[in-house]
Amino acid sequence: MALDEVETPALIIDLDAMERNLRMMAEAVQGTQVKLRPHAKMHKSPDLARLQLAQGAVGVCCQKVSEAEAMVRGGVPDVLVSNEIVGDTKLARLAALAREARVAVCADDPFQVERYSAAAQAFGVTLPVLVEVDVGAHRCGVAPGPPVADLAKRIERAPGLRFAGLQAYQGSAQHKRQPAERREAIQSAVAQIRESVQALGKAGLACDWITGAGTGTFRHEIASGLYTELQVGSYLFMDADYARNVGEDGKPVHEFEHALFVLATVISRPVPERAVVDAGLKAYTTESGLPVVHGLPGVECVRVSDEHGVLQFSDPSHPLKVGERVMLIPGHCDPTVNLHDWYVGVRKRRVEALWPITARGAVS
Ligand SMILES: Cc1ncc(COP(=O)(O)O)c(C=O)c1O
Repeated sequence: MALDEVETPALIIDLDAMERNLRMMAEAVQGTQVKLRPHAKMHKSPDLARLQLAQGAVGVCCQKVSEAEAMVRGGVPDVLVSNEIVGDTKLARLAALAREARVAVCADDPFQVERYSAAAQAFGVTLPVLVEVDVGAHRCGVAPGPPVADLAKRIERAPGLRFAGLQAYQGSAQHKRQPAERREAIQSAVAQIRESVQALGKAGLACDWITGAGTGTFRHEIASGLYTELQVGSYLFMDADYARNVGEDGKPVHEFEHALFVLATVISRPVPERAVVDAGLKAYTTESGLPVVHGLPGVECVRVSDEHGVLQFSDPSHPLKVGERVMLIPGHCDPTVNLHDWYVGVRKRRVEALWPITARGAVS
């Protein structure tokens, strides 16, 4: 099928661009101390995870048990749930999954440790558990230093568990616009990790797995010499919000290419200044900004409602007509993906792949 025949709205992957992004990240870690464990919460697709594994990734990260199930059943043998899981039925599913694949999980509280231990014993598995450290994002995570060692000791003592390392993702650094801000945030994270590793050493605990990093900062985590894994996600698709980060050269970051688009059709041009497309809030999310119209300078998405996107023209004589199509770059790829059933992979304007978004709606 030609791209022009695809019904809209549709979630399109530019396969050439995505493959270049895949290779670029694989090359970035080559010859360094870090391994790649991309975050599958972004694409929610075991098909795409397998492409990442083929480029050298050691496994994937997930945020939810249901996502991890989708990845393991789709052929991913090694999953880190980079999150705290609370709820005994979820933990039963997690422990059951650990019989099929290597599955690790994070903790920042003795309650989780106790429940992880009960689930692991009930299923006869040993769960590797990482202590999540708050390295500046102030979401989950224990304070750096001695509290990390205290929780790690508790994990190590708990039947069915093994202390495996540190989850140290500095999420609030990723979208800081200036390169110096991102660099400083990761320098501070690294200092807090060092303090934590020292505290672990004093407690007689080795720490050979330190994982974190996102698309905005991964080069700093590599340069730290301390992180052993990267859990980057968005690099694969590169959304409009990430493109607003400024690089060391003072220009918008251009390391990765936009590879994810919402294809939309112009359904109305009621006045010369305005056109309306058939893709709104049910086709992309807007918490990180409105979508950017790809390749059409002077055409801006200015307003959205459930099923409509309103485009405004700086030049009212712009020729875009009813029936023509536009490619929208979503503001934020992760939640946009979660709105669709299928990826339509396109090369040279022809459909080459259809991949189900298997873990769409897997939010538990
Ligand atoms: C825990 C964790 N790790 C890694 C990532 C990946 O970050 P990015 O998609 O910015 O590369 C995220 C994204 O929110 C995250 O929450």
